Amino acid sequence: MSGNPKETASSKPWGGRFAESTDKDVEGFTESISFDRRLFREDIRGSRAHVRMLARVGLLTPEERDQILQGLDRVEEEFAAGQVELRPDWEDVHMHVEKRLVHHAGPAGLKIHTARSRNDQVALDLRLFVRAAADRLTGELDRLLEATLRKGYDYRALILPAYTHTQQAQPVSGGYYFGAYAERLLRDRKRLQGVLDSAGLCPLGSGALAGTTLPIDREFVAAELGFSGVTRNGLDTVGDRDFVADFLHALSLLMVHLSGWAEEWILWSTREFGMVRLPDRLLTGSSMMPQKKNPDILELVRGKAGRVFGGYTGLLVLLKGLPLSYNRDLQEDKEALFDAVDTVAGSLLMMRLAVDGMSFETARIEEILGKTELLATDIAEDLVRLGVPFREAHAIVGRIVAHAAKNSCRLEELPDSDLALFFDRFPRGYASTLSPGGSVARRSHTGGPAPETVLQRFHEIWQEIFRTSPPWSPPPSSPGESGRGR
Ligand code: ARG
Repeated sequence: MSGNPKETASSKPWGGRFAESTDKDVEGFTESISFDRRLFREDIRGSRAHVRMLARVGLLTPEERDQILQGLDRVEEEFAAGQVELRPDWEDVHMHVEKRLVHHAGPAGLKIHTARSRNDQVALDLRLFVRAAADRLTGELDRLLEATLRKGYDYRALILPAYTHTQQAQPVSGGYYFGAYAERLLRDRKRLQGVLDSAGLCPLGSGALAGTTLPIDREFVAAELGFSGVTRNGLDTVGDRDFVADFLHALSLLMVHLSGWAEEWILWSTREFGMVRLPDRLLTGSSMMPQKKNPDILELVRGKAGRVFGGYTGLLVLLKGLPLSYNRDLQEDKEALFDAVDTVAGSLLMMRLAVDGMSFETARIEEILGKTELLATDIAEDLVRLGVPFREAHAIVGRIVAHAAKNSCRLEELPDSDLALFFDRFPRGYASTLSPGGSVARRSHTGGPAPETVLQRFHEIWQEIFRTSPPWSPPPSSPGESGRGR
């Protein structure tokens, strides 16, 4: 190293071409260290693999390799302890790591950037980050899924009204209700795991955009870092953030699900609905109204969904105008990504606490069930069994419901004489055979709410995710035998 003749620009690795040092305001505007320091572990991990490769192909001596590896250990400790001074003039995490490495490893450190560009470095770091984050969030999601299945099991026999248009529709069981959210979480989990594939190829070796003349071994680096292979076109690779978009898409849909769930319980925990109760440790109060207990965690899950969608939308807008290869705009991909990961981790935890801690207000639910016409569809289907075309059956039961409402009578309590006004072939004592629980039990086809169907499904999900039998039940005798069809 002969040293940079322009003292003022010498702190920059690219200073050689420049006649004066960078304007401080420009440094402040262009730096990313204030947020991309979060990638220091990924950056150092990638650098370790790169350095091992350089030694393998003879671009570093074994001694240089070891000096650099030891230096990287020191840099990682420094970063982890928050001891690295963050300097806007060193721009980003990649340069901070390199500068600190040279400090610790001496001249060997000056060779680390051989056959590597920050463009492929940031592409690598982000892929490593996204893969680790997708795995970590899958773990969080699994804990929520577990809580959901356990709660569903606890409430497997509770009959609940289910709604369409927020109007009472048909009875289901608590197991079926939680099972619905379990299915959503399961799809979210698959999407998160799919992101591991989106970010599954190693970009290192793309160079600035077109590789390098030096004799690198990309496959070695990929294998070292646990990638399944290498990307195949540097010009594409250094500008490819599809995997970030895939991740933010998966996180956005997950937040759609958590947000809707939160909204449902906000509603169900109002005095007006009164169906769900959260324990005091999960509620917050009002500074002025002494009587208040508010479900702030649920409102914040609902509210925070917006920032995740915003990050996703922002990324798409960022990407849509970019020509091939690296453009500095891409530096703007990170904050939204980091924020989405933190937001989703917190939201998954809050929903798990809510699921763990919630209880149904069973007395209130019974009161609601006692006042509804949830069994109307069952009656129409019984008329179908008696040979009545469904459209006619629908009309007949509509008239029966109107009659019962006029007489303030529950459908289950209608005397034979009243039923006979609308249809002459009802079996004797028909109305008294109706019950919400019986209605649920009769819908035992695959995907239906009958308790044994629901437990069979819980069993399948538990096996798929946790690779064991659920803790509560012996496995149902065999699929198909367990309450399918009737
Ligand atoms: N800080 C940059 C980013 O986050 C790293 C890549 C910079 N590359 C460059 N040629 N300036 O995208």
